[in-house]
Amino acid sequence: MSMQRFCRVKMLLTIVITLFFPLGRATLPLVINTWPFKNATAAAWTTLQSGGSVLDAVEKGCARCEVEQCDGSVGYGGSPDESGETTLDAMIMNGDTMEVGAVAGLRRIKNAIGVARAVMERTDHTLLVGDSASVFAENMGFIAEDLTTNKSMNIFSQWLKGNCQPNYRKNVFPDPSKSCGPYKPGAILRQNKREQHTNTRSHDTIGMIAVDQDGRVAAGTSTNGLTHKVPGRVGDSPIAGAGAYADSSAGGAAATGDGDIMMRLLPSYLAVELMRAGADPSAACKAAISRIKTHYSEFFGAIICANTTGHYGAACNKVPGFSQFHYMVSNSESGAPLLKSVDCF
Ligand code: GLY
Repeated sequence: MSMQRFCRVKMLLTIVITLFFPLGRATLPLVINTWPFKNATAAAWTTLQSGGSVLDAVEKGCARCEVEQCDGSVGYGGSPDESGETTLDAMIMNGDTMEVGAVAGLRRIKNAIGVARAVMERTDHTLLVGDSASVFAENMGFIAEDLTTNKSMNIFSQWLKGNCQPNYRKNVFPDPSKSCGPYKPGAILRQNKREQHTNTRSHDTIGMIAVDQDGRVAAGTSTNGLTHKVPGRVGDSPIAGAGAYADSSAGGAAATGDGDIMMRLLPSYLAVELMRAGADPSAACKAAISRIKTHYSEFFGAIICANTTGHYGAACNKVPGFSQFHYMVSNSESGAPLLKSVDCF
């Protein structure tokens, strides 16, 4: 075949594929997760294929990231706080029953999503935090271990050497943009504007949605939060409606990015409600990002959305250094995890 003819055939094929198999084509079951965390997608997909529930899929998928530490922002040994400690946030939501289990500031336990599921299934509560969450986890059979690694120690000591920069304190003395603490209250100089010192690589939460053949939806998240956070800081990931949301009568959504900002606007809840009202997942994701942009035009973040028929989409806020967001999908068409991307706007 001549090169010209080959190019014509290729173009024709591309048009046919685009027309008949558009991005986000609906097939069930479906697994979708934030970032190119392919092994997490594969773990969730295999779980569904071997008869596991959507909750099992989300738990196993996120747990894979916790074990592999994904890109360092999930699981042990990442995002040391101001005192050098790694703490974990996670949640899981059952879109059939609207039950949620979550942990925040979890210490010494690696499998945060597992503990979140135990909160959902072994208590009447929704969210457990800090040391008490760890004691609960140990009582439920989870092993207590040090979450510190050489890498997290190194990140921490570099931060100390660099006068504790970046730093998330404000209106304290000594000046937190120049000096380490301890800090005391200072004059209120800075009220609203969040400094753009949040590195886009320091919030790469795994957020995952699974939808089964019958349209049952579950969603979940797991993260070690924000590097150099003030001890006790909890982001969006363990908060239902912020980090993730699932409702088997509408769909699921999961967010990633600057949780301090994103959790104020409940993007996952908004996206699911928009899908309930008939928006397709891409439009719902976009509207949730737009809502945050209205208030914080420079925020770093993205969201994935899926409805109960297996359509899916994603959206992200375009900021310097972040113009395209990558996510993973497995469905009955692809089987193996497929890397997808969306241009930020
Ligand atoms: N989105 C993760 C966090 O900000 O903690």
